[in-house]
Amino acid sequence: MASVNGQRINMAKLHLMTANGVAFSTRTGEVILDSALMQGIEFPHDCRVGRCGSCLARVVNGVTLGGNAAGRGMIHACQARALSDLELEFDHQPPVQSVNAQVASLIYRASDVIEVGLKLTHRLDYLPGQYCSFKFRGFPARSFSPTLPADGSHSENDLTLHVKQVRNGRVSIALGRDIQVGHKLKIEGPFGSAYYRDDSEDRLVLVASGTGFAPILSVLLAALEDSHKKPIVLVIGARNLKSLYMASALSDLNRRPEIQLIVATNEPPRYKVVRHGAPIDFLPALRPTDGVYAAGSPAMIDEIARKVGAAGANLYADPFEPAATPANNWLTRNFA
Ligand code: FES
Repeated sequence: MASVNGQRINMAKLHLMTANGVAFSTRTGEVILDSALMQGIEFPHDCRVGRCGSCLARVVNGVTLGGNAAGRGMIHACQARALSDLELEFDHQPPVQSVNAQVASLIYRASDVIEVGLKLTHRLDYLPGQYCSFKFRGFPARSFSPTLPADGSHSENDLTLHVKQVRNGRVSIALGRDIQVGHKLKIEGPFGSAYYRDDSEDRLVLVASGTGFAPILSVLLAALEDSHKKPIVLVIGARNLKSLYMASALSDLNRRPEIQLIVATNEPPRYKVVRHGAPIDFLPALRPTDGVYAAGSPAMIDEIARKVGAAGANLYADPFEPAATPANNWLTRNFA
């Protein structure tokens, strides 16, 4: 007998598992992802600490312990343990690729937001809303979500990033200074679980604060191209009007009849169309059939997760985390 999360369990018992129909075995209390990988089963993963969401799976049948994720029956397979025979499903995602690139353009969209255009040596497959790791030569790797230009135009570059420049950041602050057009970099990815799904959800609620707009814009454009037309509530938060770096893209999106746009700023706005508060203050009443996509700070995502959980809806979110420093060693996500 062993104790897992305070529960006494018999680790000797063998269980049969299937993941997308591929069979493998595990013992009671073993971490599902570990069992899969040890038996050579291809199971999407990255961080293996419950943060990146790459290993998200749905429990179709069976009982698991720990590793619960937002959404009906969803688990992080890198954290969840098997307590019975299990049937799991996960989405097929593009494999992790490694691609060389160079900076093709650098455009300031706000005083602290720089848009980076990248030219790649070859195509990188990813799903709208996923993120990749970008290692500019001579700098540590950072994670950003590929997106489109913030002014709503079509990109001439192979990938576009929206980067918030953080005063003490190692990489973000070097963009436009030590990192100029022509600077070489290596891209690895894609990662993350907050990609657009054409599920049975009948309304999309998209929530972004700051440069969280980047992945949310990718998800939104994928949804608009989808043949299953759904109403969309788009909630955008910013510190103040000046930091609404995506204002022209928003004014284009606001003309789409299927989109209800809500813009909120922390500072009292000068215009009535902009509301005063945080995005969480302006979420619509959530329904179990909603698909909620959110990108922003961990605190915002936590608050949204509570509301989504209470409503029984599905949440797709990869929180932005500060970059690793000597004082913390968290996974980097689109920051600094
Ligand atoms: S591999 Fe499980 S959350 Fe990252």
